[in-house]
Amino acid sequence: MLIARRISRHLTWLIASLVLMGLLTAWWLMAMRTSDKLPGGGSSVGLTLGLIGGLLIAFEMALVLKKRLRSKLWMMFQTRLWMKAHIWLGLLTFPILLLHSGIRWGGWLSATLLALLALVWLSGIYGLILQQFLPKIMLDDVPGEAITSQVGHIVGKFSSDARRMMALHFDLDGDEATPRLTMPSGKAVAEKPKTPYISVGSVRAHTKTESAEPEKKSTVSAERLLESYVKQISPFLEEGDRLRTPLSSSSRSRDYFQTLRAVIPTTTHETMEALEGLCEQRRQLDSQARLQFWLHNWLLMHLPLSWALFVLMFLHVFVALKYL
Ligand code: HEM
Repeated sequence: MLIARRISRHLTWLIASLVLMGLLTAWWLMAMRTSDKLPGGGSSVGLTLGLIGGLLIAFEMALVLKKRLRSKLWMMFQTRLWMKAHIWLGLLTFPILLLHSGIRWGGWLSATLLALLALVWLSGIYGLILQQFLPKIMLDDVPGEAITSQVGHIVGKFSSDARRMMALHFDLDGDEATPRLTMPSGKAVAEKPKTPYISVGSVRAHTKTESAEPEKKSTVSAERLLESYVKQISPFLEEGDRLRTPLSSSSRSRDYFQTLRAVIPTTTHETMEALEGLCEQRRQLDSQARLQFWLHNWLLMHLPLSWALFVLMFLHVFVALKYL
């Protein structure tokens, strides 16, 4: 949920939260003045704060039901409003329950609960901060955002498109899915060709030129494109930034293709540019995966810790009521 750029829409919640917190803190401070120690869970103010905090946590957990249940009852509540309440009431939980504890760790159970609450609270704030700017970065840096489940298919398409483009200039060995290209040997390249294409090892480079001399020059140069394709471009399109390659950085990739352009025949420039475009799209997929990871991985902490907090809270209530 975006807050930073839409703070006016959250103003009522902000003011209400501050007022409520102010009133509860004032009550707690007054109780502190009348007793000689910090009022904890056993005092009337502490007990009330514990009750409010517990209800707030139960409400926070209800987001699980809201997100997963599609029944009419849950659909009645606007998701946006629910999310606002989750954030602002969630922010209140830690200060309220800290006062409830009398700002003491207490026994192992209450100390664990307080630590869990702090972690859930902090992870929620962390997630909210990420939600403020990661979607914007995604929009700016990854204009062609792909559906996550389609990424494998798209990667396969990049590789087959690249292979098809290369096949315009070279006869490629191996099957379509896993190209196994043998690099041309220097000896074969040096030989003057008699046919319109030159067999070099298992790769034949098609040339458009008629005379033998430019043909030789073009073949040697075309080899550089083939070499780049086999050693850098094709592995990068398949593996992405898991490989250490200049192609994983846009500036180094630009330099790489500029250097390549100077040593390959002009007849292959268009193909090279198309390959460069595919590499750019592959980088975007990697960026998208990285951003998606950061946008969602905090929930891997927030959600299980919330459940642990929720379950332990009942144990805490049970133990507390037993000794009250
Ligand atoms: C005791 C306090 C809290 C509890 C028990 C709690 C619990 C939860 C739970 C259970 C979810 C649902 C996860 C899911 O099903 O995917 C959730 C999501 C979330 N929580 Fe909290 N939360 C707490 C405090 C906070 C705070 C303080 C913030 C931020 C200030 C926050 C921000 C969020 C956000 C942004 C989501 C993700 C919603 C979405 O985009 O789907 N939470 N929380």
